[in-house]
Amino acid sequence: MTSMNAGIDTNCMTLTRFVIEEQRKVPGATGEMTTLLNALATAIKAMSSAVRKAGIAKLYGIAGSTNVQGEEVKKLDVLANDMFINVLKSSYSTCLLVSEENDNIIEVEPDKRGKYIVTFDPLDGSSNIDCLVSIGSIFAIYRKVNPGEPTEADALVSGRNILAAGYATYGSATMVVLSLGQGVHGFMLDPAIGEFILTEPNITVPRRGKIYSINEGYESQWDPVVKAYVHSKKYPKSGKPYGARYVGSMVSDVHRTFKYGGIFMYPATKDSPNGKLRLLYECNPMAFLMEQAGGMAIDGNKCILDIVPHSIHQRSPIFLGSFEDVSEIQAMYKASR
Ligand code: AHM
Ligand code: MG
Repeated sequence: MTSMNAGIDTNCMTLTRFVIEEQRKVPGATGEMTTLLNALATAIKAMSSAVRKAGIAKLYGIAGSTNVQGEEVKKLDVLANDMFINVLKSSYSTCLLVSEENDNIIEVEPDKRGKYIVTFDPLDGSSNIDCLVSIGSIFAIYRKVNPGEPTEADALVSGRNILAAGYATYGSATMVVLSLGQGVHGFMLDPAIGEFILTEPNITVPRRGKIYSINEGYESQWDPVVKAYVHSKKYPKSGKPYGARYVGSMVSDVHRTFKYGGIFMYPATKDSPNGKLRLLYECNPMAFLMEQAGGMAIDGNKCILDIVPHSIHQRSPIFLGSFEDVSEIQAMYKASR
């Protein structure tokens, strides 16, 4: 029950409240996940603010350059990375971090360690930063299972071990889309109060969509299945052709897919035989969310979440979205073998 007073909801479901309530349902929960998600929410709020005033604050400079005051100017993606690492370490709930921006794993100092591993892309869609097209942050959370010091091997587990995953989109509004393994929920940032408010509970992806999303500039480099699939969407034997949409920010392309359905693809190309997108902090979190929302995410053959990684920055081709659309291209791959 929500109570409204002059348009103000006096009993709204904030992200923090939602996470506390979810944790209450888990017997023996310590609250560490709540702390961790609160820390992530803080980083996302700070990033949302930084993204919105990036131009004014001259955050577009080259990393390492200095502004007129002689202060170091950080590029937005460097700032995002520092922000995520700092809030995650100081939440006392993590022991190991994997960031797109760091070549190696990040070990949390022993006196700050908690039980979770977080993989993240602090600011995805880097080519869209300067032209003000939507960008986002992506994360996945695992529990460290092996005893002892955190090592790279702790992060090299399949996406089936994800406990929670989500993304933030810094679009025309800022929204966090989150799953703790019990459905997918969308929280809109209310900048007036600085809180994420549950505005889209139980997000499900339409069973079939009418949109395909792929960087069509690389068509000459696609395999024959991708070529045939996209062709079949443009020249259907019956019915209307699919529409094409491609933002070039994975978060935005995936968010649109949740809302409107359809398929997002970043396949293998001749130049990038494993595609471009990274398994641990781009493909896996989105695949987790997509499956939770009733959709599918595959590498062409198998589910993204079943891939056991061999290195922290490994890439994977990805096809994700509406169940029937992704099933269709999966069947075409199967028939081609
Ligand atoms: P980034 O991590 O450098 O931002 O690259 C990832 C981005 C994704 O957001 C997006 O889906 C993809 O790169 C677009 O790549 P392309 O320009 O090759 O289509
Ligand atoms: Mg990225």
